Amino acid sequence: MTYAHPHIARMSPYALAQLNAPGGKTLISLSQNESLRPPSPTALEAAATTLGTSMLYPDPDWTDLRHALADLHGIDAGGILCGSGSLDLIACLARVFSGPARAVFAPGHAYPFFRTAAQVADARFDTAEEIDAVVSVDALLEAVRPDTGLVLVANPGNPTGTRIPKSEILRLRQGLRQDILLVVDEAYGEFADHLGERCFDLVQGGNTVILRTFSKAYGMAGFRVGWGLFPPAIAQELRKVMNPNNIPASSQIAAAAAVRDDAYMRETCAMTATLRDQTAAHLRKAGLDPYPSFTNFLLLNMGSPEAAQSADTALRADGVFLRPQGGAGLPHTLRMTIADPEAMNTAIGSLMRWKEEYRA
Ligand SMILES: Cc1ncc(COP(=O)(O)O)c(C=O)c1O
Repeated sequence: MTYAHPHIARMSPYALAQLNAPGGKTLISLSQNESLRPPSPTALEAAATTLGTSMLYPDPDWTDLRHALADLHGIDAGGILCGSGSLDLIACLARVFSGPARAVFAPGHAYPFFRTAAQVADARFDTAEEIDAVVSVDALLEAVRPDTGLVLVANPGNPTGTRIPKSEILRLRQGLRQDILLVVDEAYGEFADHLGERCFDLVQGGNTVILRTFSKAYGMAGFRVGWGLFPPAIAQELRKVMNPNNIPASSQIAAAAAVRDDAYMRETCAMTATLRDQTAAHLRKAGLDPYPSFTNFLLLNMGSPEAAQSADTALRADGVFLRPQGGAGLPHTLRMTIADPEAMNTAIGSLMRWKEEYRA
């Protein structure tokens, strides 16, 4: 009989969204922060051109994709690594830079996969309180421990949707010990780029990594492409544990084409923001209280864990799946992805019916 490592045997499988619509109901999934529209048509055309060469392994260095990203962001193509989604890069970072003697540290309502990545690396997972679901740099700096090795911060945050300004990220970096690796996960970064606070320049310090993904603003979750800008010494260590053929050619070429169709992605962000802000205003008027959002989702404050659970059950019965956030320490909330207008109308209608019937 073979046994798993004890720290793996202790883990529960990563909790994905439950998406089983009741019989006869159309599934409306607002639970995984997927994009409200498909990838750029040029990305889809580009992907189709590679299928005939699928007997070959893909480019292990993602050369064209890295150059497209470098041109768009004005960054060094040599510092970019790409992963099979940013989850892949987060997991590799935890494997290389944390472990039994080097704890992982994150804000209190962190993206749940950060904890999973720490558990896989057999690292302790510490958190610091947030204030009204906003990351507190003061709380992080106060609670950092002598054995902290890796700090993971999503900005904007998931599931909160809130954001801290670049000045706070800089203050965090300056307040952390130099030997701590800071990873800023900007999975929703494109939705906040209009604020003019990109953080790629922090990577020059040698101990900060910036991650992004094609899964959100680019609408390419199914292609599984994430990327990051890394200091050279960090990238060198990370590559040792990465799958050397991690991204199919069709995904690489599609992602590069999507980067070169910046206008399409920007249009997606603008459409999403308009619909998000209209939805937030509507829900606020109805007495539900979304947190401020810089992403493609809203975190709804339902007032109590009981109300959140009751609304979740009622919406599921209508085939509408939001995402409860008890696992992230926010049991009084539900997270709602911004989808196309028709899906949003159905979801809002279902929520309003629940609201009328629910008595706390
Ligand atoms: C904060 C954050 N980081 C990373 C990811 C993972 O994205 P990917 O699809 O690139 O693996 C997500 C996905 O929801 C996310 O919300």
